[in-house]
Amino acid sequence: MVKIAFYTITGQTQRFINKTGLDAHRIEDAHPQYQMNDKYILILPSYQDFMMDSVVDFLTYKDNKENLLGLIGCGNRNFNDLFAQTAKKISVTLHVPILYLLELSGNSADVKNVRQIVKEACKKERGAQKDLPVQNPSLSNISFLSDFRQKNE
Ligand SMILES: Cc1cc2nc3c(=O)[nH]c(=O)nc-3n(C[C@H](O)[C@H](O)[C@H](O)COP(=O)(O)O)c2cc1C
Repeated sequence: MVKIAFYTITGQTQRFINKTGLDAHRIEDAHPQYQMNDKYILILPSYQDFMMDSVVDFLTYKDNKENLLGLIGCGNRNFNDLFAQTAKKISVTLHVPILYLLELSGNSADVKNVRQIVKEACKKERGAQKDLPVQNPSLSNISFLSDFRQKNE
């Protein structure tokens, strides 16, 4: 079973999650350090790096970054090149794929597509567990958003 984690500041991503009916763990600012314990997909909005500390705390907690299968990035295309910047930065930094991008709380096509993506990920994960008994969780310490920014300045 693939789990879902999400982060929200103004509630749009929460609304999207509600529309999909997916069971998901909300990353809370008050206590972001929660261990997923299983493979999961992270759904998150885009903000400036300094607003994403809770996501960094969550990802760096225990084996959360090793269990991250992929990202679904939410944002607003009015931000042009910065559209979904947070998902894009995490993807580059942790070498995890972006599975889908959507705006705000998503439309009905987004809901359908993301449900399908989660379903496929569950199927693939079941297959992977059978075919690949040995997994390599040897990701090094992540250089996260701030390091990414330094490298690209
Ligand atoms: C201060 C602020 C900064 C934002 N920066 C970006 C951005 O860089 N890129 C982007 O695609 N969307 C940006 N957005 C839009 C949000 O990512 C978008 O509205 C998202 O759906 C909010 O999700 P949430 O309500 O779950 O927090 C920004 C919104 C605000 C209020």
